[in-house]
Amino acid sequence: MDRPAAPAFRSTSLPNSLRTRPCTAPLNTAVGSRNSGFAVGQGPITPPLSPGHSDEGDPSIVIDSEPRYSGGGTPPSECPTRGTRAAVAEEAMDIDSEQSESSPKPPLRRLEDEENHLTSGTLKLTDFEVKGTLGTGTFGRVLLVQLRGTSAPSSQNCFALKVLRKSEIVRLRQVEHVNAERYILSRVRHPFIVDLYATFQDSLNIYMLLSYVPGGELFTHLRRARRFTPDVTRFYLATIILALKYLHSFNIIYRDLKPENLLLDSRGYLRLTDFGFAKIVDDRTWTLCGTPEYLSPEIIQSDGHGKAADWWACGILCYEMVVGYPPFFDETAYGIYEKILKGKILWPREMDRLTKDIIKAFLHPDRTKRLGNLGGGAQDVLDHPWFRGVDWDALERREIRAPIIPHVASLDDTRHFSHLPLPPASEIPGLINEEHPPALQQRFDPSAYQFMEF
Ligand SMILES: Nc1ncnc2c1ncn2[C@@H]1O[C@H](COP(=O)(O)OP(=O)(O)O)[C@@H](O)[C@H]1O
Ligand SMILES: [Mg+2]
Repeated sequence: MDRPAAPAFRSTSLPNSLRTRPCTAPLNTAVGSRNSGFAVGQGPITPPLSPGHSDEGDPSIVIDSEPRYSGGGTPPSECPTRGTRAAVAEEAMDIDSEQSESSPKPPLRRLEDEENHLTSGTLKLTDFEVKGTLGTGTFGRVLLVQLRGTSAPSSQNCFALKVLRKSEIVRLRQVEHVNAERYILSRVRHPFIVDLYATFQDSLNIYMLLSYVPGGELFTHLRRARRFTPDVTRFYLATIILALKYLHSFNIIYRDLKPENLLLDSRGYLRLTDFGFAKIVDDRTWTLCGTPEYLSPEIIQSDGHGKAADWWACGILCYEMVVGYPPFFDETAYGIYEKILKGKILWPREMDRLTKDIIKAFLHPDRTKRLGNLGGGAQDVLDHPWFRGVDWDALERREIRAPIIPHVASLDDTRHFSHLPLPPASEIPGLINEEHPPALQQRFDPSAYQFMEF
């Protein structure tokens, strides 16, 4: 069957503040577009074979008619409870162990025992020259920078610099998240996770200096290929499973898995980036955050979520890679939530049984029965028959040839990223001129104290 390609749209991550929207209107039409430059209503949003269209007569599609959502098929008629909860600080909403149905499991490893590997003090913002803009996200932008005074670009002198506007972070109530992003990335180290080297702040922004991952987003490669074979999908998903297994061993949940946050390095291996919603959670947490198409039923229902939400997202990612678009989507976030809670999935007829099996196992609406969240945890995922034959150790040592080797001419090559203009100097003051010494600067900067670690 020749299915049409999904449009190159992308969803932005949901900031917390969306929870304060009145829920009588569909939630957040503004974030329905997955392409920052593609406004809702400007073109086709729903691919013809998505659940948004009636293809029930199409013989190549099998509809999973079993009710998959055990908690009742209707979306919450009133979501204001979630909306009102948004006003509460997220950290105050973590359940404590007495309230929990099951006692929270201690992490296998404690993040505070890991070494902080950030370079502090030796580098300053003015050491870097801005070479390009790699991406814009929900809260800021990511620049390609090179250390001044170095000639040939190399992985030692080219970096991605994530720039976030402090006033926006405060306005969107993301202070906690940004500080968690820094703390977590300063201590984790894994071959499939982006490296954070240093952080800075100036009078306007905070900055995170990351390894530059030159091969572009998996999103771009997937849209170009339309869909991946199960073998290609297995390669990418296996690396993500290893990254999640590592993060979960510290009780870190990632919460924003999607092809936009997966970057290909020069050898074609994925690096997980964007830890803006990552959090250490011993049991469950309540913040509605993530990207609509990838949210698990328990996040949508404000039922408290934990690691199982990441395993759900693996199911969505696996489906999106094999089919070419996510299993649940619609023009509005609210429409997406309705479909997720209904749980009706269209299965292309040519999808093989094992692929369907693993996706279904990840997309179990009851998180206590969801693959990854069962007795054996992440190991159950590695042992699933769909992964039979994968040499996990060789994969982690990056010894397996990747399916797409991105062509990059030099280490500052930005061909795999959209060509966006450079920001005006006034928006990145600390990169242009050295500002006052931090102590003095902070006296004039009312939000500096909220980002003390930067
Ligand atoms: N280390 C990196 N190397 C190359 N590009 C990057 C890197 N980090 C982010 N980007 C690009 O910038 C985009 C936005 O960054 P991200 O951290 O996801 O921010 P946001 O939280 O705003 O989504 C990414 O989707 C990617 O295209
Ligand atoms: Mg992102």
